[in-house]
Amino acid sequence: MSNANDPGIDEVSRLALQVAPSGVLVVDDGGCINFVNQTLADMFGYRAEELLDEPVEILIPQQFATTHRKHVQNYARGPQRRDMGSGRDLEGISKDGRRFPVEVGLRPTQTPGGRMVVATVIDISGRKAIEERLRRHEEELERLVAERTRELEAAQQEKERMLEQLIQAEKMTTVGTLVSGIGHEINNPLYVLHAAAEALRDEQDIEKCRALGDEILRQTTRIAETVKNLSRYARPASRQDLQPVDLEEVVADAVRLVRQSPLGDRVEFKISTATVPPVAARFEEILQVVFNLLRNAIQAIPGDGRIEIDTRQAGDDSVTLCIQDNGSGIPDKHLKRVFDPFFTTKGPDQGEGLGLYIVRQIVTRYAGVISVENVATGGTRFEIRFPVAAETPGREE
Ligand SMILES: Nc1ncnc2c1ncn2[C@@H]1O[C@H](COP(=O)(O)OP(=O)(O)OP(=O)(O)O)[C@@H](O)[C@H]1O
Ligand SMILES: [Mg+2]
Repeated sequence: MSNANDPGIDEVSRLALQVAPSGVLVVDDGGCINFVNQTLADMFGYRAEELLDEPVEILIPQQFATTHRKHVQNYARGPQRRDMGSGRDLEGISKDGRRFPVEVGLRPTQTPGGRMVVATVIDISGRKAIEERLRRHEEELERLVAERTRELEAAQQEKERMLEQLIQAEKMTTVGTLVSGIGHEINNPLYVLHAAAEALRDEQDIEKCRALGDEILRQTTRIAETVKNLSRYARPASRQDLQPVDLEEVVADAVRLVRQSPLGDRVEFKISTATVPPVAARFEEILQVVFNLLRNAIQAIPGDGRIEIDTRQAGDDSVTLCIQDNGSGIPDKHLKRVFDPFFTTKGPDQGEGLGLYIVRQIVTRYAGVISVENVATGGTRFEIRFPVAAETPGREE
C-alpha cells in the first residue's frame, strides 16, 4: 500500500541501483547507452552524463569492439539471459585508457521505449591479481619442491655411494688376514704339485703317469677354487642389476673362506641348508654378510666350538638364514648396540666395530630384517629374513 509520503518504489530502486556494488548499464536496441549507475561511471572514470547516448563500445578496448558489435547483433537475434566472458577474458577500458578485466552479465528486457539490454559489470582486477599471485606462489612452490626433490635424490645417491665405499673398505680389511690363510691353502697343493711333476719327469709307466696327471689336475683345481673364493669376496659388488642369489651357495662359499681365516679351522660347522628360493641381491654382498657373521662367531668361541647354519623357507614369500654359535654370548646390555657403527668389545687390532653395522646395511638394502638373541645353552643366534626374489632374472656369470 502506498500513501502520499511514500517516495515510491521507483525512487527506492533508483537509489538501490546507484549504490549497488556492481556497475549497471542499460543499452538500447541501437547499442547506445541509456542508463548507467554511479558505480559503473566511477569504475570507468566518467561522469554518468558523459556516457549517456554514447555507443556502448566506448567502454570496450578497440581490439574487442568489432567482435562486440557482432555479438550484439547475434544477441539481438536470439536474446537470452547469460554471462559474458565465461570461458574468455573480457576487458573494459576507462576514460583515461586504462584497461581492466571485467565480468559482465546480460539481461534483455522489453520496455515501452523498445527492447533494452541490462548489463551488470564487475571489475575483477582485484580477483585477477589475487589469482595471479596465487599462481605465482604455486609455481614458486612447485619449483621449491622440485629443487628439494633433486637435492634429496642427490643426497640419497651420495649416501649410497658412501655406503658402497664403506662396504668395500670393510671387506678389504679382512682380505689382508685372509691372504695369509690362503697362502697356506695354496702352499699345500703346490707342494704336492711339485712332487707330482718331479715324479712325472722320470716316470716311464703310462698308468702311473696318468695317476700323477690326475693328481696334478686335482691340486690345480683346488688352488683355482681357493683363489676364486678370495677374488669373489674381494671384488667390489657388481653394479649390475640384482641377481637371484642362492643362499646355499653363499653359505658354502663363506664357510670355505672363513675356514682359511685365522682360527677358522678349529671350529666345527654344522650346515643344514635347505634349497630355498633365491633372494634378489648382489652375490658378493650376501657373501660379505654371512662371512662377517661367521667371523664374529669364530672370534666369540674361546676354544673348539661349533657353528650351526641353516636356511629355510618361511611362508610363501620369505626365507630365513640362521647362524648360531656356542661362544661367549652377548651381554644383555650390549644386545641393542651390536649393530651400531664402531661398537666393538674387541681390542684395537682385533675389530673396528663395523662388521655388524655393514651386515645390517646390506640386509636392509635388500628389504631384509636381522635380529640377534642369546641362546639358553650359551652362545648367540643371528637370524636374517629376506623376501624371496619376485622373478628369476638371468644369472650374472
Ligand atoms: N657371535 C657373537 N658372539 C658374541 N659377541 C658377538 C658376536 N657377534 C658380535 N658380537 C659382539 O658385537 C660386537 C660388534 O660386532 P661387529 O662385527 O660389528 O664388530 P667387531 O667384530 O668388533 O669388529 P669388525 O667386525 O669391524 O672387525 C663385537 O665386538 C662383539 O662384542
Ligand atoms: Mg665383526
